[in-house]
Amino acid sequence: MLNLKQILLSLSAALVLSTTLAQAETPQDFLTTYQTAAKAVDANFQGFSATRGEQFFKATHGNDWSCASCHTSNPASAGKHASTGKAIDPLAPSANPERFTSTRKVEKWFKRNCNDVLSRECSPLEKGDILTFLMAIK
Ligand code: HEC
Repeated sequence: MLNLKQILLSLSAALVLSTTLAQAETPQDFLTTYQTAAKAVDANFQGFSATRGEQFFKATHGNDWSCASCHTSNPASAGKHASTGKAIDPLAPSANPERFTSTRKVEKWFKRNCNDVLSRECSPLEKGDILTFLMAIK
């Protein structure tokens, strides 16, 4: 259940996101944006974790799919849509320089994919952990 404090916190996080995301165009820009937003919702924010991001990416969260169901457990390789079979280019920026260069694209797919996997949107902490994991893949 959401209480008022949580609602206010997510509203302020959304505000931080919408004001800073407008300029984000490199993976590092996205990371900085998620960091600002994560701090806004949690004053005790301790930084992102590639390990946590990897676990999140590979886990099912109560539904059938994980992120890895379509993007594979090695995001440096090409993926395949779990229901349509359509090919998906690699998600790791090292393998695909187009990744995390467009705010519109990133937020559209985070929203859709997180809803498919978690039945909710991903938090700034979760997005930052995932991106830290993806950026660590060489
Ligand atoms: C049902 C299949 C499916 C699942 C599950 C899935 N994705 Fe995706 N994802 C896609 C497709 C399709 C695209 C868009 C096509 C493309 O960009 O190659 C995409 C694109 C993305 C992008 C856009 C990146 C960019 O800059 O272009 C991100 C970020 C992303 N997914 C993250 C995730 C995360 C995180 C999860 C787990 C919560 C996840 N995806 C689960 C299919 C999926």
